[in-house]
Amino acid sequence: MSAYIIEGGHPLDGSVRIHGAKNSVLPILAACLLAPGECVIHNCPELSDVAASLDILRHLGCRAERQGDAVVVDASAPTGWDVPDALMREMRSSVIFLGAILGRMGRAELCAPGGCELGPRPIDLHLGAIRGLGGRITEDGGGLRAEGALRGADLVLSLPSVGATENAMLAAVCAAGTTTITNAAREPEIVDLQGFLRAIGAKVHGAGSSVITVAYLAAAASAGGTVEVTGVDYRHLSTVSAVLREAGCDVQSGAESIRLRRDGPLQGVRPVRTAPYPGFPTDAQAPLMAALTRGKGCTVFVENIFESRYRHVDELSRMGADIRVEGRVAVVYGVPRLHGAQVRATDLRGGAALAVAALGAEGRSELTGVHHIDRGYQSLEGDLRRLGAEIRRI
Ligand code: EPZ
Repeated sequence: MSAYIIEGGHPLDGSVRIHGAKNSVLPILAACLLAPGECVIHNCPELSDVAASLDILRHLGCRAERQGDAVVVDASAPTGWDVPDALMREMRSSVIFLGAILGRMGRAELCAPGGCELGPRPIDLHLGAIRGLGGRITEDGGGLRAEGALRGADLVLSLPSVGATENAMLAAVCAAGTTTITNAAREPEIVDLQGFLRAIGAKVHGAGSSVITVAYLAAAASAGGTVEVTGVDYRHLSTVSAVLREAGCDVQSGAESIRLRRDGPLQGVRPVRTAPYPGFPTDAQAPLMAALTRGKGCTVFVENIFESRYRHVDELSRMGADIRVEGRVAVVYGVPRLHGAQVRATDLRGGAALAVAALGAEGRSELTGVHHIDRGYQSLEGDLRRLGAEIRRI
């Protein structure tokens, strides 16, 4: 298990190009199963979750391989319809394959993803959408089987679940007739999935209106200096940029870039409430909290999306942060400085948050559990080093 050694206190300076987003590429890889023939996914990030998805596609009888920054998937003749337990455990979000496997193969078998570090991860909305399209689902002993020919339907989601919206879209593409999804998620990854489905010939419209970027902006807010991130659509991060501006950062948006400069002290901001897009993204909560641990005054966070998404708080407290958690609410009292410490990543965004805090702390930190970070960030330490950070992987 690798770890990061981070020497904090060095301002960041420079430009970093943001790689493809994990939460966009995973449903697109599942969608490759729907296309008889070869698909090439360009700007596909090298992540452990992507590797797990390619393992699942190969297990289903597809050819799936990386060619430089692209991944090639040939789903001409898939033979399987089950996702084995080991692969499900490797990536909780493998449930996203359910709709695509059922749509292409007429049946699907996978085990319920169970919980994860963010709390229970129910899939009732996923299963409700599949049943709404005529899929017959039986659940026994942690496993579930789906089968049946799918037909178009009017689906209504009780909450705009990203995964359930994606599963419904993937299954509906193969359903006979038209499907409408009401109260669908509108995150940018939904728009990306719509674009891919159209590219393989599906008739999809009305989707939507990213977070890796957040980690780099939060790092600059935490360490100070000037960082430009390129290859981004600034509109996807308008709520995050607004919080960073209120905290005292200078944030300028370009056509495909965002530049953040922080040379004065950070301030606490008005309550940050996570919400489905276009609200404040839950994935940005941890990195932003890490940056605001040293803001003057206090900031209240309300995590409305996941049940327990404050596991990074204990680790931030080991660095000297003063944070109180009550259920879904976390109150961050700004402290003048953080100090380096031994900290452990407990999940993907929480891990990124600890790196953000360590960059702005005085002294050395050792961050273990970097495999969590590898799930969603292709080259965090490389990018940060290029910006002037003293970070190395051991
Ligand atoms: C996706 O998770 C992302 N994961 C998450 O990113 C992201 O935080 C989340 O969307 C919100 O943007 C991937 O795309 C692989 P949800 P997902 O369904 O689909 C409840 C990261 O760090 N719910 O919108 O699981 C659920 O418990 C990860 O990259 C049900 O109750 O999110 C949660 O409280 C973390 N029943 C809420 O909805 C269901 O059937 C929102 O979850 C499904 C979800």
